[in-house]
Amino acid sequence: MSDSFDIRDILHEAGSRPRDLVGILHRIQDRFGHVPASVLPAVAKHVRMTSSEVYGVLSFYPRFHLRPPARHVVEVCLGTACHVRGGDAVAEELGRTLAIRPGETTTDGQIDLRTVNCLGCCAIGPVLHVDGRFEARVTAGRAREIVLGLRRVERKA
Ligand code: FES
Repeated sequence: MSDSFDIRDILHEAGSRPRDLVGILHRIQDRFGHVPASVLPAVAKHVRMTSSEVYGVLSFYPRFHLRPPARHVVEVCLGTACHVRGGDAVAEELGRTLAIRPGETTTDGQIDLRTVNCLGCCAIGPVLHVDGRFEARVTAGRAREIVLGLRRVERKA
């Protein structure tokens, strides 16, 4: 394991029962931005599970990511409130504009597109979460403008 993914402190402070696993994965992702596959054996040993069992938990929750995030992360909410207000149309437009599906990264490696089930601000849906910023009552056209704006920023950089 590389020094940048040294998780000894996290494991040292965490419980070691299987029910502690999700909390450990959250702390790893919060610290490093993702949960690299290289840490799975150490985590599995700590909570007395197999690496494949840990991987199963990791892949069950869409919040966890096995690789570092792209420079920009665009999350479109498809929870019930956002869905009924047009979240699907927003997701479709983003997929078309970026030429990827949710869960994928643009071919230039700059933008991750993700879907989430609720961002906790249903009253302002459909909601887009772009690099940590919330965009309220987003239409498909506005979503397109936002990601094209990210692309323009990349070209200038
Ligand atoms: S359903 Fe989208 S924020 Fe709750």
